[in-house]
Amino acid sequence: MEYRKLGRTGLRVSAMGIGAGGPSRLGQRDGLRSEAESVALVLQALDAGVNFIDTAEAYGTEEIVGKAVAQRDRGQIIISSKKRLRNENISREQLRSGLHDSLRRLGANYLDVYHLHGMRPEQYDYYANEIVPEMQSLQRQGLIRFIGVTEHWNDDLRHTMLQRALVDGLFDVIMVGFNLLNQGARDAVLRAAIKQDIGVLIMFAVRRALSRPDKLKATLRDLIDSGELDADDINLEQPLSFLLDDGAAASIPDAAYRFCLAEAGAHVILSGTGNPAHLQANLRSFAAPALPAAHVARLKRIFGRVWSVTGQ
Ligand SMILES: NC(=O)c1ccc[n+]([C@@H]2O[C@H](COP(=O)([O-])OP(=O)(O)OC[C@H]3O[C@@H](n4cnc5c(N)ncnc54)[C@H](OP(=O)(O)O)[C@@H]3O)[C@@H](O)[C@H]2O)c1
Repeated sequence: MEYRKLGRTGLRVSAMGIGAGGPSRLGQRDGLRSEAESVALVLQALDAGVNFIDTAEAYGTEEIVGKAVAQRDRGQIIISSKKRLRNENISREQLRSGLHDSLRRLGANYLDVYHLHGMRPEQYDYYANEIVPEMQSLQRQGLIRFIGVTEHWNDDLRHTMLQRALVDGLFDVIMVGFNLLNQGARDAVLRAAIKQDIGVLIMFAVRRALSRPDKLKATLRDLIDSGELDADDINLEQPLSFLLDDGAAASIPDAAYRFCLAEAGAHVILSGTGNPAHLQANLRSFAAPALPAAHVARLKRIFGRVWSVTGQ
């Protein structure tokens, strides 16, 4: 497993992070796995060298993460969790009680990173002025080590909230949507994050469009219709098969994780699964050599104008 410095936090994090949310929620979203199976999945990842876990009060997986972490050395594991933001602004008191509830579910006495979860651009002023000072106070009390924010990418396709956050420098860590289909965050977010030494977590590396062939075809068809893709570049019968033809990648998800892994400024690539076989395949992806430079260049050229889809 490759380890990286998470920007100005100085935390040493594995390049692969366990995402305990997304379409799988460790196998809990569709009730596919028992709680014990999900705990075992987290333990498999930890034992393979992953030291970063992202969860949230909204996912319903904090207790599972806590049960896994309790069986290993808490001090060696970086836990990230989040306070859910709703349409109505939350108060300082709601933030504080949300953190205490998360700590209780996780069986932890501190969080390494605590985020404001899915912030929309129009919410930014309120949270920056009213709630970040409360997070800083919790940080001084030792309950949070670092302060983070995650975007609501489906509603903020141009990453405008994170662009503001990067100008203000209030957050030590940000979570941004990025994948081979939509690389807009490279110019919009990652360049500035590198300059300011902000820790960057990548979400949506695979999501649905890069894990489900029908969804990939439908997404590519939409992008051809919208003019963001050139039809000559895409074989809709076998999309992106050039990545597999010469054995460069084992699968589309494999290529998708490795594409993100090599992106400058991306520190932790979150990977979400409820399937132990997928976890093993994903661990292999994070240990594999970089995708051939010609393939990376081709993906950057083909998808260079895409901005309207997230791969959701
Ligand atoms: N705004 C936010 O704060 C926000 C939003 C979204 C996500 N997140 C965080 O980011 C994490 C990552 O989420 P994501 O959805 O972006 O995760 P992802 O890893 O990009 O995609 C997960 C999806 O890919 C499938 N998958 C994973 N490995 C596979 C493989 N080897 N072969 C085939 N299918 C595979 C999973 O299904 P299986 O279960 O079948 O493997 C799941 O449907 C989340 O867990 C969460 O922690 C945060």
